[in-house]
Amino acid sequence: IAQRFNAGPLHGVRVVLTAGPTREAIDPVRYISNRSSGKMGYALAAALQALGANVTLLSGPTNLSTPAGVLRVDLESAEQLLEESLRAVAGAQMFVGAAAVADYRVDMPADEKIKKADATMSLTLSRNPDVIAAVRQRDAKLFVVGFAAETEKLAEHARAKLERKKLDMIAANWVGHGRAFDRDDNALSIFWNGGERELPQASKSELARQLASLIAERFLAARN
Ligand code: CTP
Ligand code: CA
Repeated sequence: IAQRFNAGPLHGVRVVLTAGPTREAIDPVRYISNRSSGKMGYALAAALQALGANVTLLSGPTNLSTPAGVLRVDLESAEQLLEESLRAVAGAQMFVGAAAVADYRVDMPADEKIKKADATMSLTLSRNPDVIAAVRQRDAKLFVVGFAAETEKLAEHARAKLERKKLDMIAANWVGHGRAFDRDDNALSIFWNGGERELPQASKSELARQLASLIAERFLAARN
């Protein structure tokens, strides 16, 4: 109901946003995942909604509550995220990939709990599909925003991802050594074709508001 009276720069724009980690099953009780809390993605979902967007949040497992006015779909694995993303972007104008997608999944997860045996064990992993690249391939007209988490050469790696995945914008942050993941503050460097912007250290909700207005600015500029 709030949505209907919510005029803003993104009024009526349908946005699909992914957030949180993915979980890749090893057996029915174990998985491989990462340290993403989902906080930045959830804060961005709320900030885009506040600008008038109609936001669908595709979420990996998190401990966060759903932002008001946002439609949330829960999922676990990268393959489920891909399937839900391709389904959700039909009719959408923007896709934001804030999820920390596991790069690899376990080959043939066991149907029963694996019993311990030898002193060492190995898992064979296979590359997961690249969700954001697949979404871009599906719809060349979507405005696509990616994230990049880097421990070194931030600008270089982020710009390479912008190019390789054919994104419209990428928001990059330093991670590791206590930075960003599972914290309430962060800093972002945002890159697009022909520009960049630094958003200095701030709470994730403040940063999300600044990023959302920059996204809206670039989205509206691309549309005209
Ligand atoms: N991403 C995705 N699907 C994947 C991996 C990443 O959609 N299988 C998306 C992320 O949601 C993010 C962007 O791609 O928006 C960059 O993720 P990142 O992990 O930084 O890049 P990778 O291409 O996986 O490169 P690497 O981890 O090797 O640095
Ligand atoms: Ca990755």
